[in-house]
Amino acid sequence: MRKGTWGAISVTGIFILLFSFLSAPGQAQEQILSPRVVHGTSGDSSQFPFLVALMDAKKFPQSGAFQSQFCAGSLTSPTTIVTAAHCVVNQETRKQFRAEDVLVGFTHDLDSSNFPTRQVSKISVHPGYAIKSTENDIAVLTLSQPVTDIPFIAVLTPELAAEYTEGGRPAKVAGWGNTVSSGNKYPSVFKVGNLVVFPDTSCGSGTRYEVNGVRFLGFPSSDVNPAVMLCAGGATSTGSVIDACQGDSGGPLIADGSAGPMLIGLVSWGEDCAGKYPGVYTRISAETSFLSETNAIAESAPAVAPSVSITPLFSELIIRVKGGADGITVTQYAVSVTGPTDQSPTVPVTQNCFAAPSGKSIEGSCTVSNLITGVEYTVTAISANARGNSPVSAPVTVSTSSLPVAGSIAKVTRKKTTARFTLTPSIPNGASVISERVVCIPVGSGVTRSSDVRDNFAVVTRLSKASYRCQVRIETELGVSESPIRVIKR
Ligand code: ARG
Repeated sequence: MRKGTWGAISVTGIFILLFSFLSAPGQAQEQILSPRVVHGTSGDSSQFPFLVALMDAKKFPQSGAFQSQFCAGSLTSPTTIVTAAHCVVNQETRKQFRAEDVLVGFTHDLDSSNFPTRQVSKISVHPGYAIKSTENDIAVLTLSQPVTDIPFIAVLTPELAAEYTEGGRPAKVAGWGNTVSSGNKYPSVFKVGNLVVFPDTSCGSGTRYEVNGVRFLGFPSSDVNPAVMLCAGGATSTGSVIDACQGDSGGPLIADGSAGPMLIGLVSWGEDCAGKYPGVYTRISAETSFLSETNAIAESAPAVAPSVSITPLFSELIIRVKGGADGITVTQYAVSVTGPTDQSPTVPVTQNCFAAPSGKSIEGSCTVSNLITGVEYTVTAISANARGNSPVSAPVTVSTSSLPVAGSIAKVTRKKTTARFTLTPSIPNGASVISERVVCIPVGSGVTRSSDVRDNFAVVTRLSKASYRCQVRIETELGVSESPIRVIKR
């Protein structure tokens, strides 16, 4: 039997077990995973290049990978492996493993004769890891040498957590753990299990949850803290339960979504394997500060396209862009505008402009000129950083316009009956201005007060004790435009 205890931790294990819920109670029959998972190994292995085997470094030279593998982990940057804390902390002595005790193997097949390995230079266990409750079951291994030829997996951050971990979302677990629910049977090539994320109402609030017709029991809040744990379970079409098992610990739970595949969980614990309960995983999106302190979050290209809003002018478009919805740093935006121009009135051309994110909102803005009035243009944008570009935003069409654009109220101070307004400049857009005023309408009854704008400044007097709704209103020969309303309190 391989994979005995390491230190005092039983670190064997594998994966998936299933028993058929169709069989009579008490007659749980063991069976091999559905053919797809069992036989899908070599094809599936290319899906998990970042999956690594944690091996007992002392055992490995004589006994090989199959005998010395005790847990799994995920490459999340060229120099970091994310795994479960319980994989690298002796559960009896509570002592952390030494970095030289662990060897990291990059292979799908533990019996293959030659594969890359890395030594570990540092083990960082989450300071809040609690052996008893299993909260914060996460650790980061720093590699002695970077791994540059194997793609790493992005870790889920809070920004995208709602999407990636909503109840019912499909997720995959992979590992070399036990494949049977009673007894021991370990594969040399890792197995992949197709699971479903459980809603928190079931994972930590005790209600049942059904997957493919199989009714799982829900862990109560005394067992599972959904703030830092996540449940997932699966069932084949014939009602066999799919689960992680001993030896899969520390390995990845992966979900796909708008920002591509992400590490959303780590195999942590369970009640038996493939039984009545789902498996429990460390909730990765709750561990962002630990992961960033240990440099386990690789800077990656922005994963989500920026949002775009456009102010159409006479012969220009002002385009405001905002990225960062995925929490990834943006250093530049690029905008493309396609349509006819003064110089090319019949053949559409594409013009670009660029903007840097600024301020807390990380919004950027740039202008494309030489456009023709009243003509329709198509606008797209991307976010970028040193690692690459986001996807391209969905095209927005907009027509240049000769209507004015009212400036907005940047600042207002009210003293008794007088309010002073500082404004951003209005844009008459090629037409001559008939009037530009700040208009204040009382909330409730009273008299509307207004004042002309001069040099982006206006003073409205004779206000009563009421609150007022104020806005800038500019009128040109070609039209009228009003700014958003600003309420000034009494
Ligand atoms: N703690 C186990 C290990 O060390 C993993 C258990 C996962 N169990 C489950 N039923 N999902 O390998």
